[in-house]
Amino acid sequence: MNVYDAARMADVLAPEGFAETSDAEDADLVVLNTCHIREKASDKVFSELGKLRMLKEARRAEGKTLQIAVAGCVAQAEGAEILRKQRAVDLVVGPQSYHRLPEMLRQAEHGPVIDTEFPVEDKFDHLAQPSAEKIRQRGVSAFLTVQEGCDKFCSFCVVPYTRGAEISRDARKIVAEAEHLARAGVREITLLGQNVNGFHGAGEDGADWSLARLIERLARVEGIVRLRYMTSHPNDMADDLIRAHGELPALMPFLHLPVQSGSDRILAAMNRRHSAADYRRLIERIRATRPDIALSSDFIVGFPGETEADFEATLALAREVGFASTFYFKYSPRPGTPGAELDDQIPEAEKSERLARLAEILEAQRHDFNASMVGRTIDVLFEKPGRHAGQIAGKSPYLQPVQVDGPASLIGSVAAVDIVECSTNSLFGRLVSAKGADRRRGEAS
Ligand code: 5AD
Ligand code: SF4
Repeated sequence: MNVYDAARMADVLAPEGFAETSDAEDADLVVLNTCHIREKASDKVFSELGKLRMLKEARRAEGKTLQIAVAGCVAQAEGAEILRKQRAVDLVVGPQSYHRLPEMLRQAEHGPVIDTEFPVEDKFDHLAQPSAEKIRQRGVSAFLTVQEGCDKFCSFCVVPYTRGAEISRDARKIVAEAEHLARAGVREITLLGQNVNGFHGAGEDGADWSLARLIERLARVEGIVRLRYMTSHPNDMADDLIRAHGELPALMPFLHLPVQSGSDRILAAMNRRHSAADYRRLIERIRATRPDIALSSDFIVGFPGETEADFEATLALAREVGFASTFYFKYSPRPGTPGAELDDQIPEAEKSERLARLAEILEAQRHDFNASMVGRTIDVLFEKPGRHAGQIAGKSPYLQPVQVDGPASLIGSVAAVDIVECSTNSLFGRLVSAKGADRRRGEAS
């Protein structure tokens, strides 16, 4: 979501005369769009700010200026504290207020400005739409935020505090945004939300639409051939959403469904409100509906009170379910969350040891999944030129990067590829004859 938000910040600043640059040395304004989810991400902000302060001082010595803004969830969580820790910062803006950036920048010329409100107006109504050229530069695969915030209050997580209560966008505006993206050449949309499958937004018929209903509508937007969504909570995997996986060819057979732990005791302490058996049953139902679906998940090791037996239950669940791709983290106590107050915090060394044991299983699964693609013919959405001349790169339905020898004219379309080789992170293949590719493209749309 930070990638999406950063793009929208660039969009809101474009009419002010700002253009994006990837080099801070080159910039009049640097916006750090920050993450507060774990301590490490949060700490990084202050080391970056230290570097930017030096850049700002060097600029000043040359008689020039540099404005520094801190956006995102660290801005939301720490507010004025950021200005106290780093005086070079001009502006602090939370994730719900960044549509006010142009006005804030003008105010910041007279002294530091903070906005960490959850305003009543919808920020999306105040954001300039990117130009078709900008959309094309960003590529054929785009993010689209449909829902923000979270009411789940998992006891380890800062999101309900930094992103606020769950809010779904109006489905009609989402459809309009998707159509705008598609007209500019976008072929794949990933719907975003902290609790995306909790989406319920006003639809074209005035009724409250579920995520499944929204996806079904977006699948009919001309040009959109692939749809994805993340991140979901297991308890919000509604029947119609599971059914959609069986019925909609545009909905990719790849689902990110965090489980966090395989121990019922720890799941309860985490306030996840489901058991390990509930998760297993849910996976069975999803696989029964869409047998070729691949799964991805998030795991946390070393939550307070996690015993060796609890951790082994996590290993067992990981082994049993089998994941194509996973994210795994050491528990990081976050200020203001119930988990941080619990006794029985697990020593760092133990967390590291458990993480390594879990990683061994999950990385072997990732490898096996990638290797299982070799010898198969899969659809690839081509996104950009490849690493070497004459190559193009795209993504499999399972988000694996795929490289082939092929013409740049295929960028923006789906073609069938015979996979011949895999490395840790990529697949390598050969285009199926042009005729085959056309046939497959027809199927995909
Ligand atoms: N410590 C470690 N991992 C966390 N996550 C969220 N909060 C924490 C925390 N305090 C992980 C969860 C979540 C993912 C986005 O980040 O696994 O699904
Ligand atoms: Fe955080 Fe996800 Fe739990 Fe919401 S559902 S509190 S975002 S981990």
